[in-house]
Amino acid sequence: MGIFINENNLEFHLQNDKVSYILKVDSFTRELQSVYFGNRIHHRDSYEDLSEKTERPSTTSPIKGDHRNSMEFLRREYPDFGHGDFRTSSYEIVSSKAHTLSGMKYEKYECFKGRDRVFGMPHVRIGSEEEAETLIIHLYDSFLQIRMKIFYLLLEDYSAIVRKVSFENISNEPVKASKLMSFSIDLPSASYDLMFLKGAWSRERHVERVPLHKGIQSIGSTRGSSSHTFNPFVALLDKKTTEHQGEVYGFSLIYSGNFLALAEVDNFDITRVMMGIHPQGFSWVLKEGEVFYTPEALLVYSNEGLNGLSQEYHKIIERHIILEKYRNDVRPVLINNWEATYFNFDEDTMLTIASEARNLGFDLFVLDDGWFGKRNDDKTSLSEWTPNYDKLPNGISGLSKKVVDLGIQFGLWFEPEMVSEDTRLYNENPDFVLGHFNYPKSHGRNQFVLDFSNEAVVNEIFERMKRILNDSSVSYVKWDMNRSITEAYSQSLSKEHQGEFYHRYILGVYKLYEMLTNAFPHILFESCAGGGGRFDLGLLYYAPQTWTSDDTDAWERVKIQYGTSMIYPIKSMGSHVSAVPNHQVGRNTSLKMRHDTAIFGTYGYELDITTLSDEEKIEVRNNIEFFKTYQNLIHHGKFYRLLSPFDGEAASYMVISECQSKALVYYSHGLQVPNAPLSNLKLRGLDPAKKYHIHGAKSSHHGDELMNLGVLFTESYFEKDFIDNFLKPGDFKSLILEITEIK
Ligand code: DGJ
Repeated sequence: MGIFINENNLEFHLQNDKVSYILKVDSFTRELQSVYFGNRIHHRDSYEDLSEKTERPSTTSPIKGDHRNSMEFLRREYPDFGHGDFRTSSYEIVSSKAHTLSGMKYEKYECFKGRDRVFGMPHVRIGSEEEAETLIIHLYDSFLQIRMKIFYLLLEDYSAIVRKVSFENISNEPVKASKLMSFSIDLPSASYDLMFLKGAWSRERHVERVPLHKGIQSIGSTRGSSSHTFNPFVALLDKKTTEHQGEVYGFSLIYSGNFLALAEVDNFDITRVMMGIHPQGFSWVLKEGEVFYTPEALLVYSNEGLNGLSQEYHKIIERHIILEKYRNDVRPVLINNWEATYFNFDEDTMLTIASEARNLGFDLFVLDDGWFGKRNDDKTSLSEWTPNYDKLPNGISGLSKKVVDLGIQFGLWFEPEMVSEDTRLYNENPDFVLGHFNYPKSHGRNQFVLDFSNEAVVNEIFERMKRILNDSSVSYVKWDMNRSITEAYSQSLSKEHQGEFYHRYILGVYKLYEMLTNAFPHILFESCAGGGGRFDLGLLYYAPQTWTSDDTDAWERVKIQYGTSMIYPIKSMGSHVSAVPNHQVGRNTSLKMRHDTAIFGTYGYELDITTLSDEEKIEVRNNIEFFKTYQNLIHHGKFYRLLSPFDGEAASYMVISECQSKALVYYSHGLQVPNAPLSNLKLRGLDPAKKYHIHGAKSSHHGDELMNLGVLFTESYFEKDFIDNFLKPGDFKSLILEITEIK
């Protein structure tokens, strides 16, 4: 790993065993240009010959009579607007001296082992200085007296670059930034497809792949959270790229608030990609000496298709985003009471569920919404984090201790960012609530948003949560967030700082996470936002697992988890078995299919286990045992997607151990295809030379056969007992294949 610098031409080449990223300072304009991002290539002493200085009449240029140095077609690394580049700019600063014009020129660079220090924002963590190298390019506008730094972090083992930008006002008058993206890059082709994860409540992160066309395509969120609608991740794929072959670039933001991801194809077939805080409603005032840091963006390259990209993301997230103590830990199998009881419970009901859970082999009992204030429905009591003594006469303290005495851990639900209208906080501290006196506040799940941009609010909520957590035996917290932000007007910000609200809000969320995880290091946090409305790298930095979706129907979950796996590791996905008919779609699926689907995640249940038949209870006990046998493989193995539920009625994926001796394959179908054609499922990642036994199969097979010829779902291939039920006609069937190397 290293950063090569061609001092004469000011060219910078960040290179490790897998990837090269090259940028340069343009000799005329003194601004930064994109040269290359992709597979590792040899370093050269000069990249001058790569400069795309083409004679293009009718373009504007900084040089008189010149048509070869136009901003209109140069590939720029962090473009401004106003000097002849008519594409989307990556930033905009409004000053009294030059309105939106600026001219950031190269000043100097810094290069060092390790990374810069970051405060208050989630970022790529490194264990030791040897794991990364940093390049910082300093740019300066001497007229505006604004310094910009563009940060590049090269990680030792990954085909990835981490980027962000900082702005510092060193003039003696304030300037206002109205757009500050985290990165921008110009790629030398337009022949890409754009892939992104789209959705809505209950159908998050469905995969969409569309061809890039001339002009702008973008996704984003203006809801105050990263959102159910789009995830802060996009990929650009070569047209021929598949799951397992071809080039693909992934771009994601380590951020949980409003974001914009944009791809623009220009008239010379250059593709500009950028990502950052959504400019809608955003502005930031920089006074003398103040600095603004954008969120970090993670740029990952793969030449092994989408699956290769996902594997790279999974490793980086596990090793560089999630807290180290969760890297190799064993996550508790949990039972959550939400879909079992909703708001209707008391201490006895909870203890009965917890005690049954203990008998069935669960590790953790989670008490969801409804334990506080007068909360018997979703209209009341948010922010009153004191027990509802009518339901729980011994409070959370008493209940949690009783649960722990049963031999099972206790977890608790909170929705820290919200307030109900009937609470003291709402009525006595109206300035703590987001909104403007002149406009009615939009309703969302009968609740309003607390102004987390105000430090006093964050501190107050911390004190309230601390009291209850100090007083009880809580080892897990589910942090929920159930509405989008509207009327984003903070009473604690002056009028010129209102544009800072959304970003300050999310910084407040991070602050509270930091305070809580520091004060209660033994507590495992699971983030949640009305299901999977805030599944992002920002929150995974604090909470190593996220509730993937409120939709727990097995077939819907396959799609959601399949899409989520594009970037997020299996171990980060909260996934549960729930009751049938399913509460979200009314569908019946077998306990087996619900279990088979849920084990590719953190695994838990959210149904009333006390009403299960004896037979079902035995099945649940066996299911938990099965999961625990394979937990390490599922959570730490290499993940391969095999069949996409977005391409047809079948879905399949697998995990394989690092030494290629054990694998677990998931296969399911939705609607039964009548008189279905024969199919063979080709596996991935096995050792071609090793011989494997598939539990239930009649013969053993070499890895090369399983990967090239595949597995046949027929009676001749499998023992009748194993395959019979699966082959009987019917919708929503699943199989798990347990594969072991024969020594
Ligand atoms: C939304 C979450 O996604 C659910 O799991 C549950 O916690 C409810 N909120 C409780 O209000």
